[in-house]
Amino acid sequence: MLSEAILAERTRNMSANAIREILKVVSKPGMISLAGGIPAPDSFPMEIIQELNGRVMHKYASSAFQYDRTEGFEPLCEALSVYLQKKMIHADSDEIVITSGSQGALMALGMILVSKGDFVAVEAPTYLGALTALNPFEPKYVQIATDDDGILPDSLDGILKKHPVKFIYLNPTFQNPTGRSLSLARRQAVADIVRRTQTLLVEDDPYSDLRYRGAALPPIKTLAPGQVVYVGSLSKIFAPGLRIGYAVAPEPIRRWMVLAKQGIDLHTSTFNQALAAEYLFGGYLDKHLPEIIRLYKPRQEAMLASLGRHFPPGFRWSKPEGGMFIWVEGPKNLDAEAVYHLAVEKGVAFVPGKFFFTDPNAGKETMRLNYTMSDGLTLDKAVKTLSQVVAPFGSKAAS
Ligand SMILES: Cc1ncc(COP(=O)(O)O)c(C=O)c1O
Repeated sequence: MLSEAILAERTRNMSANAIREILKVVSKPGMISLAGGIPAPDSFPMEIIQELNGRVMHKYASSAFQYDRTEGFEPLCEALSVYLQKKMIHADSDEIVITSGSQGALMALGMILVSKGDFVAVEAPTYLGALTALNPFEPKYVQIATDDDGILPDSLDGILKKHPVKFIYLNPTFQNPTGRSLSLARRQAVADIVRRTQTLLVEDDPYSDLRYRGAALPPIKTLAPGQVVYVGSLSKIFAPGLRIGYAVAPEPIRRWMVLAKQGIDLHTSTFNQALAAEYLFGGYLDKHLPEIIRLYKPRQEAMLASLGRHFPPGFRWSKPEGGMFIWVEGPKNLDAEAVYHLAVEKGVAFVPGKFFFTDPNAGKETMRLNYTMSDGLTLDKAVKTLSQVVAPFGSKAAS
């Protein structure tokens, strides 16, 4: 039996992703899971994928199965360059690096940017997977204060004055875990701050296409192009198992990311990149995205309505215009982890919000609810059950 002494020091500092542990419980028969962060399998364009298979075999033949450039399959870089123009991001195909999921981009960024003890500024709460990608490089996290409109620019400004921050990591649109979006005025303020202080910002944006209401917000990349690495993903608008992500990075970051990626995986699967290129080029995304929205929008509306119907006073929750998550904040005395264990006994799982904070004492009264995996009736049943479990914590005061 090997002992832990064999591990590198940084490995011993790594901890299991708390959500993966929770997801083990979720697979029990009969459990309604609001815990996942994954797309519904019925959102995958299965018939289109079958057609794309034929197109790829015909168009690219054996080259779809060959080693390829680390930067990414050229036709996919070109297709993404066109796709990004709709978001007002002007990137030539040679400014794009394809990665194995956006997780691959976050890992490469950690590898090239973070030395042990470097400061990385993150939202409070933040996306847990980003921490998992960065933790092996042993950063020190500083939390940026947030409210319903995302991070507070003054908090960011204060942090940058106090700490030599290597980069800021934000998920500004339909954030995981809160579903919140950074308002336009704050996007402009953040862009001003990063330009003025010459700070690098990593903008992680896997959800902005999942918009059910309201007008699109400009990526921060469009407001401060030279300071922002924009990280995107086809996981939520095509299929996550294909592992197609990408980054649009200013030089020299892009070049270093490519060097890091040579060590990580040489390149992302050529065949999967070819499928993705044809998905975008062939106009399939434009046809399929409304289908995904048609599936998720009523699910989100059902969960919001159920929360309004069943949850006791003293609780409040985000009302996002898109994405996959709703964030519930209970009264200060709520122990969401205790609620989680009681709820699991009653057949409902969710993720206690505290796991999304880098401060171990923050967020004990918060919960992340996902609505993409179940229909409206099931979601209503789950929210009703949850409301019974949290009822003792509710207050008489209006929420
Ligand atoms: C904010 C955020 N970033 C990145 C990812 C990882 O996505 P990918 O499948 O592209 O690696 C996720 C997945 O849930 C996410 O929520």
